[in-house]
Amino acid sequence: MQINENFLKIQSSYLFSNIAKKVNAYSAAHPDKEIIRLGIGDVTRPLAPACIKAMHDAVEEMAHAETFHGYPPEYGQDFLLEAILENDYRARGVDLQKSEIFVSDGAKSDCGNIGDIFSLENRVAVCDPVYPVYVDTNVMAGRAGDKTENGWSNIIYMPCTAENHFLPEIPTEHVDLIYLCFPNNPTGMPIKKAELQKWVDYANREGAVILYDAAYEAFITEADVPHSIFELDGAKQCAIEFRSFSKTAGFTGVRCGYTVVPHDLKFGETELNALWARRQATKFNGVSYITQRAAAACYTPEGKQQIRDTIAYYQNNARVIYEGLRDCGFTVYGGTNSPYVWLKTPDNMGSWAFFDLLLEKIQVVGTPGEGFGPSGEGYFRLTAFGSAENTVRAVERIKAYFGK
Ligand code: MLT
Repeated sequence: MQINENFLKIQSSYLFSNIAKKVNAYSAAHPDKEIIRLGIGDVTRPLAPACIKAMHDAVEEMAHAETFHGYPPEYGQDFLLEAILENDYRARGVDLQKSEIFVSDGAKSDCGNIGDIFSLENRVAVCDPVYPVYVDTNVMAGRAGDKTENGWSNIIYMPCTAENHFLPEIPTEHVDLIYLCFPNNPTGMPIKKAELQKWVDYANREGAVILYDAAYEAFITEADVPHSIFELDGAKQCAIEFRSFSKTAGFTGVRCGYTVVPHDLKFGETELNALWARRQATKFNGVSYITQRAAAACYTPEGKQQIRDTIAYYQNNARVIYEGLRDCGFTVYGGTNSPYVWLKTPDNMGSWAFFDLLLEKIQVVGTPGEGFGPSGEGYFRLTAFGSAENTVRAVERIKAYFGK
């Protein structure tokens, strides 16, 4: 027997598991301290009442032989696919077919699994800092090469720092797979249509595929920021899009998302859609009927309103964090089109040192920028997904400690 040795190359634990371990150890040693967690982007508001009602109704259907559902259709229930097409795409002028949508248990799994349909020889480019799943899954697959001082030898890192307004620069060399996430995790920064169009044009020129993570699109507030990459000319020929109900509708614990693989996206005569369909049908057995009913309820008039209200609640938290830290003298980014605020650590402090300081001195948990890649060093992420009360208290603690 041999194991997949790529797993030995990678840090034994996932970024957010590491942070949870550190915080739990601190909590065990200091049971009297009340910790405010603004680290992992996990939602705290309950599900929309429209989703809850849809789930109750679906449970009732499951209770009777006449309305019971066994295995769900592999790629999603028709009622959900229709609702997605109508609301997330046609409403924005994008025409897609049901067979181009694949409902799944979330964008994280799909972003990680999509590598199955690509050769290990492909050259991968990622933003730096970056959501760790894109890199770690390429390491596991054996596409990342070896770990060096500057990251993985076969991965092209595109630094996103204050100097370039957190927008990656188009590579000067050929790449095959480009992971983009906008509004960005972790920096919270959006990309405008004109900028994203440059990436679509580059990918079409190079025969590359853009793997576009749009998990945070519900937080977009500015008009010229695209909600979907398919709003751009030529994107159907070069892009796959990942969408999630987690941050949009509080489904982090329910699990539902979807991936769009257009029929126009081809390698020679082969549609990538067919490869992903084959992969999903073989390794995934669909999302539960109850969950898909809840997801479809997000698109009803009541559901839409309830979800908008919850997003507004988190957006207000983002504003509280952004303005509070700015007034305290921090340099802050993001937060306007995103639930994440990205800040420069004071006095160029290392991001893990800043993490320890906040945890130990004021019991506020965030995510160290370095955990997202080398260019995240010197930055720190706070999420707006906490409760409004805790968000205000966390900002008050930071203000009191850093003193303005
Ligand atoms: C994050 O904190 O970056 C996200 O919650 C991670 C995720 O969505 O998996």
